[in-house]
Amino acid sequence: MCVQAAECAVDEGAGKFAMEDSIEMILQEHGKVLPTNRPHPVLTACTGALLTGLYGVWSLFAIPGFRKVPWKLKVPYLPSSKDQTLNIMKLLEGRTGRLADLGSGDGRLVFAASSAGFQCTGYEINFILVAYARSKALWTGVPSNQATFVKKDFWKTDLSLYNNVTAFLAPGVMGVLGEKLLKELPDDARVIACRFPFPNWPHQSSVGSGLEESFAYDISTVRSHLKCAPNTVV
Ligand SMILES: C[S@@+](CC[C@H](N)C(=O)[O-])C[C@H]1O[C@@H](n2cnc3c(N)ncnc32)[C@H](O)[C@@H]1O
Repeated sequence: MCVQAAECAVDEGAGKFAMEDSIEMILQEHGKVLPTNRPHPVLTACTGALLTGLYGVWSLFAIPGFRKVPWKLKVPYLPSSKDQTLNIMKLLEGRTGRLADLGSGDGRLVFAASSAGFQCTGYEINFILVAYARSKALWTGVPSNQATFVKKDFWKTDLSLYNNVTAFLAPGVMGVLGEKLLKELPDDARVIACRFPFPNWPHQSSVGSGLEESFAYDISTVRSHLKCAPNTVV
């Protein structure tokens, strides 16, 4: 009995080693044909080239004109979504007159507002986007008294002619923009901020939620609020 058990144990042990050996051999075999963890140099080179190309295309659209804008006021191009555009248009319901879109990108907000009857001007620093928006206006037959695209830095533009302003920019510039708008806009002006609200300004209403949210501000209300709280940093 004991001898038999010992023999079995020896047999079992030998079988286990034989199995491990054969598994190792199978793995080695597969190592020759299956991809290993090491990245393939051609694949790495192609991925690198693709990413560089994508960055090149993105920077072509996002960066031109930026050199002259101070670093802390730089805002890259990011088109607003359909929902964002709709939310902005809801906040402009009942309004008429002139509208300035600060950083008009490919012109989508300007086109939406001009078809709602506003006389719109899009200020855009990126000449490629300005050219695109102008040719789209030509192509779709939008007259220039309804939609104009100006290649200009809006920080250096007097906005006192506008009673409606839209801005989809960046959180870091909203405080400075607020100061500029309070200095220049008429009392009956309405400002719509897309996604990024003005710090310390009370909003009249907002539409949407999360990244799609837009905020409406009436300049007269903001001015009276800030008069009551004069120490508020805008
Ligand atoms: C976040 S994108 C919004 C584009 C567009 N309004 C939309 O909703 O799709 C901001 C735009 O502002 C432009 N921009 C940034 N700084 C500017 C400046 N100082 N003057 C004019 N345009 C500017 C950028 O080139 C970019 O196209």
